[in-house]
Amino acid sequence: MKILGIESSCDETAASVVEDGRKLLSNVVNSQIDIHAHYGGVIPEIAARSHIEVINPVINKALSDADLTWDDIDGIAVTYAPGLVGSLLVGTLAARTLAITKNKPLYPVHHVEGHVYANFITEQAEYLNLTLPSKQPEFPMLALIVSGGHSQLVLFKGHGDYDLLGQTQDDAVGEAYDKVAKILGYPYPGGPAVDKAALDGDPYKYPLPKAKLQNPYDFSFSGVKTAVLRAVQREIGEDYTFPSHKLPARLDETQRVDFAASFQRVSNETLVDAAERAFKAYAPKSVVIAGGVAASRALRKMLSERLPLTIEYAPMSLCTDNAAMIATLGYYYAQVKEPADPYALEVIPSISMTKTAWNKSEE
Ligand code: KG4
Ligand code: ZN
Repeated sequence: MKILGIESSCDETAASVVEDGRKLLSNVVNSQIDIHAHYGGVIPEIAARSHIEVINPVINKALSDADLTWDDIDGIAVTYAPGLVGSLLVGTLAARTLAITKNKPLYPVHHVEGHVYANFITEQAEYLNLTLPSKQPEFPMLALIVSGGHSQLVLFKGHGDYDLLGQTQDDAVGEAYDKVAKILGYPYPGGPAVDKAALDGDPYKYPLPKAKLQNPYDFSFSGVKTAVLRAVQREIGEDYTFPSHKLPARLDETQRVDFAASFQRVSNETLVDAAERAFKAYAPKSVVIAGGVAASRALRKMLSERLPLTIEYAPMSLCTDNAAMIATLGYYYAQVKEPADPYALEVIPSISMTKTAWNKSEE
């Protein structure tokens, strides 16, 4: 079964074809990073307009890269939630129209669940050349989800059957990366820049606090972000009223990389401490990480060192936003769910993973 996936929830327009929920046949991602970098963040209206410009060519390329025609496609999976409303509308309208005109079943999937399913891609067309995991994760599977909008620990008992163990009580970890990057003067998108800078820094140079929460699987990242701001202000001899946009110019390179490394150590320890607690309590057969921050080598290294099992990570390009993960999830969804009505599918900009139609345990 070949599923065409379509993803447009934020600032990447993507389409991909995946066979049987495991074999990647094409993976097209058109990133808007260059457009938004100019403004230091994603501008929703510009994102939506840019999706409109490229969505058709991106979908056509996903088919031609896979050497397929519409006759070969068995279904269309599309991100309907969560994300920026204008961005979601472009992808879902394209998917709905194609489902009607090409007469294909339509499968709406949740973006964050999609991130988890990037870990199920274990085969690929020859030309793609990605380093993929050697086998699919086994259940029960512990998923550490770390993206720009979400930070969650989820225990999957089977496909579409999962429990939320814990989640961030304030900022997502990717959001904290992006804010710390701004304080330190690294360009958008901040996560990759801080991740790279941290390689050259001293992770113990600046002591930063770790939040203590009642639920051992919850996280909090707003405290450490503010702690970085205050520590930077202190470091340059200013008080808390000093404007953050003037900070980067006052820091030298050593201070910047040391702050990046110290922030990254504390945020990684926060995530890995909780994952380790969940691992001990639930004894999962596999552990996966998902979402943009899962592209961080430092996080992968710490998790592998702390957990007593071999973790096979998805390639970086399948951790950040893409449609391969959406097509993959679409396949498993199609095994147990009826397709959506293409005339009626609506987007939901904000909905948590536990409330989606796919999570059987909530029915
Ligand atoms: O999953 P994603 O691509 O989009 C959302 O669904 O949010 O995640 C984007 C987030 C951003 O905050 C970005 O700064 C962060 O992932 N990110 C990273 C890295 N690559 C992307 N954070 C740390 N290290 C990286 N290498
Ligand atoms: Zn994402």
